[in-house]
Amino acid sequence: MKILVINGPNINMLGIREPGIYGNGSYKDLLEYIKKEAGSGGDEVECFQSNHEGDIVDKIQSAYGIFDGIVINPAAYTHTSIAIYDALKAVNLPAVEVHLSDITKREEFRQISYAGMACIKTFAGYGFEGYSLAIKSLKSYFENR
Ligand code: DQA
Repeated sequence: MKILVINGPNINMLGIREPGIYGNGSYKDLLEYIKKEAGSGGDEVECFQSNHEGDIVDKIQSAYGIFDGIVINPAAYTHTSIAIYDALKAVNLPAVEVHLSDITKREEFRQISYAGMACIKTFAGYGFEGYSLAIKSLKSYFENR
């Protein structure tokens, strides 16, 4: 399987950013973790991070016809971006939403996820492991189709 992993704004600040919420691992550590997890399942993975909504939309669009599925942590854009929701619907690739923290137990403004409405599943609150769970769930989606 060819998987595109997209991370949104401030995910590049992992390790520095609110470690009590997001953990001590850096973004580089996260990339290594994702590559190891995907590799052990025989999957090919490309990771992309941007702090810009339009760039994330462009990246989702560019996945059409190239990738089998998308793992996405839209970060703060989760709660605001209809453009990202529309892009996921447009390419119509199976997508799984990931959040390092458990957004369901946080502030009111984090309770809505637009991107999540275009995803087949959400993993929130599992830290790095959420990305591995997302890759596995894309795999089982294809196996059970
Ligand atoms: C996040 C949760 C979002 O609410 C927040 O804006 C982030 C990170 C997470 O991974 O827990 O930037 O997506």
